[in-house]
Amino acid sequence: MAKSKIPQRDRQIMKCPACENSCVKNAEEIIASIEQRYLACQSCPPEPNLDKTGPFKEQPKRLERCDSCQRATLDAVMLDCLRILVEHGLRDARDTLRSVGMPLIEVGYPLAYSPRLGPRSLIIIGERLNKDAAKEMLEQIPEIKGVILSRGIAGMREYGTKPLENELLAGCDLRADIIQSLFGELVIYKSQSRIHIEFSRQSAPKMKILEQICMQGRHREVVDGLCGPGTLGLMCALAGAKRVVLNDAWLPAVQNTLLNLEVNRQILGIEVIEYPETPLGAVGSEPVLMGHARGACEIEVYHGDLSKLFLRARPAGLCLIDHFPGSKTAEMERACNCCKELVII
Ligand SMILES: C[S@@+](CC[C@H](N)C(=O)[O-])C[C@H]1O[C@@H](n2cnc3c(N)ncnc32)[C@H](O)[C@@H]1O
Ligand SMILES: [Zn+2]
Ligand SMILES: [Zn+2]
Repeated sequence: MAKSKIPQRDRQIMKCPACENSCVKNAEEIIASIEQRYLACQSCPPEPNLDKTGPFKEQPKRLERCDSCQRATLDAVMLDCLRILVEHGLRDARDTLRSVGMPLIEVGYPLAYSPRLGPRSLIIIGERLNKDAAKEMLEQIPEIKGVILSRGIAGMREYGTKPLENELLAGCDLRADIIQSLFGELVIYKSQSRIHIEFSRQSAPKMKILEQICMQGRHREVVDGLCGPGTLGLMCALAGAKRVVLNDAWLPAVQNTLLNLEVNRQILGIEVIEYPETPLGAVGSEPVLMGHARGACEIEVYHGDLSKLFLRARPAGLCLIDHFPGSKTAEMERACNCCKELVII
């Protein structure tokens, strides 16, 4: 096992893993400003409601930003992206706004209205993009934070197969979602070229399952066996769990979980975070303890195959297995039988 000699106590890892800029903010700061973040100001022009399926040649040339707050509608940003793609020969006059790709808003939050976007607040993920066009999108469109070329669903769908990574063509791929539950809100950062995309919806089915578990008090000690960026396990900590074990075999997911521990540190009542061991590769096998937090809740973060986790970690009353739809879980279910209760999400 790769045990570093001196545990790195309280190492500051609030640095963005993609661009090393100050992309990462504390959860309290993000949550406090979220209601204002996307609201139109009194001078904002009305929502243009462009036809997303209409051809480029029938769209307006450009949509102006607001004179007062300088922010843009999503249509204005997507139209600028489409124009640059047409200029680069990657789209033609018949292509639509929808053809640009999927807009990922940084910070994701369930909105009842369409957002007004400020600087560096949108990541585009799409097909038929290249580096030159992406660089120009980043340079010419103030709202663009990053451009990702999609090859499929990022991450590790099946243990033993090569994880899929999409290509970050320009800028930064780090964005956050505000995750809501009956117990409060958390901010969950995700490296979107390296881990899967999941939208933060109000009353998401898995959050409902988790809320029910927590309301019934079955979450005192929890294992989040396939934790991704840490959403479910950290929500259990917020709901009052005393011990949470988070585990994932894909290193970018574990690194996001560690970042999310720091980001939500105050909300979760964390006093100390240690980073005892270093990973052995991108895909983990034997469990490596990459993070250990103490405070209101004791939180262990492992990098490794869930089927091997309990060779090292102490089992818990509850084990959550949240795999991709259709992925196999039989082997990990057998390995997790040492926990009192197993919930397949
Ligand atoms: C659907 S995602 C988890 C999403 C996460 N629970 C959330 O709410 O954000 C499934 C995760 O399982 C991980 N995974 C797949 N097979 C694994 C295995 N054998 N051991 C550990 N992690 C695994 C993947 O890397 C991926 O992060
Ligand atoms: Zn960044
Ligand atoms: Zn405005």
